[in-house]
Amino acid sequence: MLMIWIAMAVIIAQQQAGTAVAIDNDDIGGIVTSAKGPEAGVWVIAETTDLPTRFAKIVVTNERGQYLIPDLPKVNYSVWVRGYGLVDSAKVKAAPGKLLDLKAVVAPTPKAAAQYYPAGYWMSLLNVPDKSEFPGKGGANNISTNIKSQGQFLGLMKTGDIFGSCMTCHQLGDKATREIPKALGTFPTTKDAWLRRIQSGQSGADMVKMFNHLGTQRTVAMFADWTDRIAAGELPPAPPRPQGLERNVVIKQWNWGDEKTYMHDLAVTDRRNPTVNANGLVFSSPEMSTENTPVLDPSTSKTSVLAVPPQDPKTPRAAGPVLKTSPYFGDEVIWTSRSDVHNAMFDGQGRLWMTARIRPPATPAWCRAGSSHPSAKRFPMNEAVRQAAMYDPKTKKLSYIDLCFHAHHLLFASSANTRWCAWKQRSM
Ligand code: HEC
Repeated sequence: MLMIWIAMAVIIAQQQAGTAVAIDNDDIGGIVTSAKGPEAGVWVIAETTDLPTRFAKIVVTNERGQYLIPDLPKVNYSVWVRGYGLVDSAKVKAAPGKLLDLKAVVAPTPKAAAQYYPAGYWMSLLNVPDKSEFPGKGGANNISTNIKSQGQFLGLMKTGDIFGSCMTCHQLGDKATREIPKALGTFPTTKDAWLRRIQSGQSGADMVKMFNHLGTQRTVAMFADWTDRIAAGELPPAPPRPQGLERNVVIKQWNWGDEKTYMHDLAVTDRRNPTVNANGLVFSSPEMSTENTPVLDPSTSKTSVLAVPPQDPKTPRAAGPVLKTSPYFGDEVIWTSRSDVHNAMFDGQGRLWMTARIRPPATPAWCRAGSSHPSAKRFPMNEAVRQAAMYDPKTKKLSYIDLCFHAHHLLFASSANTRWCAWKQRSM
């Protein structure tokens, strides 16, 4: 009994002194200090390329600067510290089962620190048009008459309305958007650079449409002013470091897919019964980018591909044309998918259902008004351009289901006599 008390006292004394972190043989743990002492609320990242796909596990330090990265596969890792107020520390090689104290590096300047701030902090430097400029007056103030209020203008930047938003596709305020890449070329004014850059790549046509919807001239002027001020050194406020429960979060990341694919979303289980497919494969929905759906086995970090071609090979590519050369991909058409696999969902039997295009988009007569089809009688459709595909991981068989609907989000209903329902979103 006395021995135990002594042992505990030693542990408590060591913890108070900021020394001891108890680890198992599959953990990495230790203490993060900088020139300022123990660093609380900073991330410790263990990353490896030794597994079949690049993998990282990320934790946060506690108030004494201690960290513990638990349950790591037995390979070698690069470990480093990232945090607000810091710049990334040198990467240290480490293996699980080792105590590893790390030296954090205090950012030499506020500008160096700000490079790690979330995109939204940089976006907060946008000076959006004043409330008095709404409703838009068209040519008179270069804000579209579509836009009735400042809130609607901001909404189209952020979460969006039926029309979508900038951020339904990508962040605003990350390095790619707050700076203008040299590869874009040189332009007489920043406004010209903005008019050019929003036409770049696979979604140029969508971005041009969205700027028109807002009022191109005023919106471009707003963004040009933003990037000019940032180029001149304006910095966002510093974000708070993770606090309280936020420090308990453990993140695992796999770098799967490739630089030309994007994953619109992932399917891991039946959300009505989250034990379906426990520890099973993770299926992605790469939408317009590829028909070769990336699949991840999180227990081994192995990746594979599920091919979901359309049933009718004459189905055209889903993405639009490239309007202008991309600074990253040139004129290459990198989004090649015809089936346009959108959000996949598991059913209760572990089968994967995908909204997918299985045939050319022309709407068949049997979906339209006048057809005797029971579904067309109840709900005639003039735009039935996306159907469904179903993959059964047990039989490895892909099936196609022709349907009358124009949708990309499917959900299984909970009621016994409804199989599944889909949410329709107007496309831009
Ligand atoms: C339909 C999806 C989509 C929407 C909506 C969208 N973007 Fe983009 N955006 C893209 C893609 C894809 C790229 C990458 C282009 C490339 O390959 O060069 C991009 C690139 C950009 C770039 C960087 C170009 C460069 O020079 O590096 C900026 C800036 C940008 N978008 C701003 C916006 C703004 C502002 C909005 C909203 C008004 C918006 N985007 C809406 C898909 C979209």
